[in-house]
Amino acid sequence: MTHGVPEEGKRVVSGESVVEDAPVESSLRPQRLDAFVGQTKVKEQLGIAIAAARKRGEPLDHTLLHGPPGLGKTTLAHIVASELGVGIKVTSGPAIERPGDLAATLTNLEEGQVVFIDEIHRLSRLVEEKLYPAMEDFFFDIFLGKGPGARGLRLNLPPFTLVGATTRYSLLSPPLRDRFGIACHLDFYDEDAIRLILRRSAAIMGVPADDAGLEHVARRSRGTPRVANRLLRRLRDFTEVVADGTISEEVAVEGLGRLEIDSLGLDEVDRKILHTIVEKFDGGPVGLDTIAASVSEDADTITDVYEPYLLQLGFLDRTPRGRVASRMAYAHLGIPYDRKASQQPGLWEG
Ligand SMILES: Nc1ncnc2c1ncn2[C@@H]1O[C@H](COP(=O)(O)OP(=O)(O)OP(=O)(O)O)[C@@H](O)[C@H]1O
Ligand SMILES: [Mg+2]
Repeated sequence: MTHGVPEEGKRVVSGESVVEDAPVESSLRPQRLDAFVGQTKVKEQLGIAIAAARKRGEPLDHTLLHGPPGLGKTTLAHIVASELGVGIKVTSGPAIERPGDLAATLTNLEEGQVVFIDEIHRLSRLVEEKLYPAMEDFFFDIFLGKGPGARGLRLNLPPFTLVGATTRYSLLSPPLRDRFGIACHLDFYDEDAIRLILRRSAAIMGVPADDAGLEHVARRSRGTPRVANRLLRRLRDFTEVVADGTISEEVAVEGLGRLEIDSLGLDEVDRKILHTIVEKFDGGPVGLDTIAASVSEDADTITDVYEPYLLQLGFLDRTPRGRVASRMAYAHLGIPYDRKASQQPGLWEG
C-alpha cells in the first residue's frame, strides 16, 4: 500500500485521519503562504484576499478549499489563520452531528477567528441549515423546549471566517457553496513543484538525496505532496537499512520497485482497478460498486483516492453507465485494445 492508504491499516476517507507518520507529516507542513509550493493561482487569490482583509481590519470572507486528498487543503487552512494572525478552531463534518455541536463550535470564538470544517460535505442537512445564518449574519438560533411552550433564543456570534475543505465539491449543496465568498480548487502539482517539495522535505528530515533520486521520486508521486512525502519516508527507511544513506536514483529505482510503484506512480490497487475493468468487464462501462467489490476496496476510497489520478492520466472515463478504461490504460497495462466501436468511451461522456 502506498498512497491514500497507510501501510498499517485503512484510511478513513479524506479526513485529517491519515494517522501514518503523523509527527513527521506535521513537521513537513509549511506554515506560511510563501513556503507553500505550487498552486500559484490559489496562493495569489488567497494572498490578496488576506492582505485586503487585514488592511480593512475585517475577517476574511468564508473560504472553501476543494480538490483531491493530499494536495494541501488542511495545510492551507492553517496557513490562512497564521497569515491572518488569528487562532484556528478545527472540526469536521462528521464530528458535528447535531445543531448543538455546531453551537458549541461557534460560540466562544474570538473575533475574526478561523473555524476550519474539514469534510464539510458530510454535514447533515439539519446542521447545514443552522450554518447558513451563522455564516451570513453571525447568529445562531437555539430552541429550548418542545411544543407550544418552546422558546427561541438567538445567540450572536462574533464575526469569524469559516474555512471549509472537501474532496467532493459536487456533494455540497448549492446554498452552502454560495455562502463561500472565496472558493479555491486545488489541482495535482506538476513535477517541478513536487521536486521542490521533496527537496524541502528531505532537508527537514535531514536525509541526503541527489537531484536524480528526487526526480525519480517526483515522477512517481501522482502530483500529490502527501504521496511524495510518503515515498520519501519509505526511501529513507530503505536507504538507512539497505543502502548507503543517500537517496540516489539507484536507491529510488530499487526502493520504489520494492513498493511496486510503477513508472507513473500507480500502485497495486490502481493496477487492480484497471485490470478489473479491462479484464473482468471488457473495458467497461462498469459501476463503481462493482469495481469496489471486485478489488475489495471501499467505493468512497476509490472515488476519493484512486480515481482522481486515473482520470487525470486519462486512463478512466466516468460515464452515466459506469467507468470505462481508455486506450491509454490498455497501453499502460500492455493489453491490446480491440474493443467494439460501440463501446468507445466518448459515446457516453456527459
Ligand atoms: N504546497 C505544498 N508545499 C509543501 N508541502 C505540502 C504542500 N501541500 C501539501 N503539502 C504536504 O502534504 C501533506 C498533505 O497535505 P494536507 O494534509 O494539507 O492535504 P489535504 O488536502 O488536507 O488532504 P485530505 O483531503 O486528505 O485531508 C502535508 O503534510 C504537507 O506536508
Ligand atoms: Mg485535510
